[in-house]
Formats: sequence, structure tokens, C-alpha cells
Amino acid sequence: VIVGNDIVDRLAAGVPSERFVARVLTPTERALAAEAPDGTAFVWRLWAAKEAAYKVLARADGELPFAHRRFHVDPAAAVVRHERGQVTVRWAEDGAALVCWAWLGADAGPLACRVATVEEAEAVPYALSTLEGAGDGASRAVRRLAKWLLATMLGREPDAFEIRRPERPAPARGAGPPEVWLDGLRLEQVSLSLAHDGRFVSAAAGLRGAR
Ligand SMILES: CC(C)(COP(=O)(O)OP(=O)(O)OC[C@H]1O[C@@H](n2cnc3c(N)ncnc32)[C@H](O)[C@@H]1OP(=O)(O)O)[C@@H](O)C(=O)NCCC(=O)NCCS
Repeated sequence: VIVGNDIVDRLAAGVPSERFVARVLTPTERALAAEAPDGTAFVWRLWAAKEAAYKVLARADGELPFAHRRFHVDPAAAVVRHERGQVTVRWAEDGAALVCWAWLGADAGPLACRVATVEEAEAVPYALSTLEGAGDGASRAVRRLAKWLLATMLGREPDAFEIRRPERPAPARGAGPPEVWLDGLRLEQVSLSLAHDGRFVSAAAGLRGAR
């Protein structure tokens, strides 16, 4: 399955402005938010679902523009609808950490996910490759967490994995979504999604074709 994830540090995120809400939510979502007992938490749940769903759908089309209002979150059904497809989502909250996982279709199959603080992930004692170590502190921390997750899921030693984000060919620009490499070969069957925000990092991995 193709997975996506997102994490929001509620302490860093604060209260969303009216302008932000108008930009990212559809009129239907805004009406639901207005009725929600905790409107702020509700808005961040929808935001995280849209981000996670974008990461799923952008795998099939690296050019997909991230127009938040085209992602319609149905919280009761736990799905995000978009003209390109329907994504199933699940949320979890632990203190200030709000995480959302997403996958294409209804059935996730084997899915592994983990949330940690940046400090916890930094303490994971795995070596990072030069490529993996090139990002900022949160990018490095989430890669350590992801390598632990992949090792646990696939029963291999963490150092055998490398997480790469190759440059996308034209007309797309910049680094593409993360890929999993094992012993120098791309593991096509593993889908990995990374997210970081404030004090938290989150990694999710799924197996393609395993339904
Ligand atoms: C992909 C995107 C949603 C990530 O969100 P973010 O708030 O920056 O950060 P998050 O912590 O949630 O996720 C970051 C991780 O997502 C992953 N990622 C980046 N691009 C991705 C993509 N297209 N698909 C899946 N995952 C992606 C990366 O691993 C990244 O972590 P890293 O930088 O440590 O490698 C964001 O980069 C974005 O909005 N891209 C779309 C840009 C766009 O639409 N441009 C066209 C405008 S018309």
C-alpha cells in the first residue's frame, strides 16, 4: 500500500488564524469546525489529514499541486476525497503530538508507524549515510526513527537501509518523496513516509502489493 503521514506539534502550531482556515478548509469543513467541541484540534486534524493524503497522491503524480481545499476530509468516514483518488486516514493524539496516517484505498495491509520526540529519535544509535545526514536536525532524527522502523518491520539490521530522496526529473524540480534502499538496491515494495514538526517526528511504512 502507498502510505503518507503528517505530524503537528500542537504547542508550536497554536491557534489557526481565520485567514489560514479560509485558505485550507472547504466550506463544508469550516461548518463542521464551527460545530466541533474543540475547533482548534479539529482544524489541525483536517490539516494533518490533507498533508498525509497529499503525500499519498503525490506519489502517482510528482506534479500534483498542493491545493488544500481540493482535499475533502470526511472525519466521520475517516477518508480524504480528491479528484485523483480516495485516501483512508487515522488520527492519534498524545499530549501535544497529533499524528495522521493515510493510505490509498480501504485496506492498509501491513503498516508500521512510530512517533517520537526529536530527542528520542536522535538517541537511536544508528549510523546515517552522508545523504541521510545532509538535512537539518529533524530530518536526521526522523531518518534514524525510520531506519529503526524498517529494521523492525523487515527483520534486517538498520544500517543495511538507506533512505534516499533522488532529484526528480524535469519538469518536476527538487527532491522527490523518500525511497527505501536495502544493500544498495531500491526496495520498490516498501512505501515510506516521513514527517516532522516542532518537537516531534513521525515515520510510517507500508508494503506495496500486500493487501
Ligand atoms: C510534501 C509537503 C506536503 C511536506 O510537508 P511539510 O509541511 O513541508 O513537512 P512534513 O514534515 O509534513 O514532511 C516533510 C517530509 O515529507 C517528505 N516529502 C517531501 N515531499 C514529498 C512528496 N512529494 N511526497 C511524499 N513525501 C514527501 C520528505 O521526506 C520530508 O522530510 P525530509 O525533508 O526530512 O526528507 C510539502 O513539501 C509541500 O507542500 N509540497 C508541495 C509543494 C507544491 O504543491 N508545490 C506546487 C505549488 S502549485
